[in-house]
Amino acid sequence: MIQLTVNGKTENLDVSPDMPLLWAIRDTLGLTGTKFGCGVAQCGACVVHLDGEAVRSCVTKMSRAKGKNVVTIEGLSKDNDHPAQKAWQEIDVPQCGYCHSGQIMSAAVLLRENPNPTDQDIDDAMAGNICRCGTYPRIRKAIHLASQMQEKNKI
Ligand code: FES
Ligand code: FES
Repeated sequence: MIQLTVNGKTENLDVSPDMPLLWAIRDTLGLTGTKFGCGVAQCGACVVHLDGEAVRSCVTKMSRAKGKNVVTIEGLSKDNDHPAQKAWQEIDVPQCGYCHSGQIMSAAVLLRENPNPTDQDIDDAMAGNICRCGTYPRIRKAIHLASQMQEKNKI
């Protein structure tokens, strides 16, 4: 049994320590918001938070996730009201949508660590998240908007 916390809930999973965290999230727990893209840490579709850090769950083994706190797109906020989620909706960022839970999870870490990112900061931080539909300009715009929303929420 491997114990970990997923979106605030303690889970005891009867899975192999070698199983990728993405498998446990999608197949064992049925949380399908996190996507499988490449399986080899190249696309970012599978990004989740592991103890607050953005990780690629396709190459993160359960042995590493053991005892840790995992947050997926389903647990990022209570009512889809994280500033990144709100900005994504307002700007209407997705095209096919497949990459965007990973994009938002990476953006959330960026916005926490660097609340007012420049275009360059955004491009650097988001470089590992590929979008086959080329929504990069809207992603950048949405992160700036999320940054403003985050700032406003503080006041
Ligand atoms: S599926 Fe994990 S990085 Fe592509
Ligand atoms: S919106 Fe289609 S891959 Fe990003």
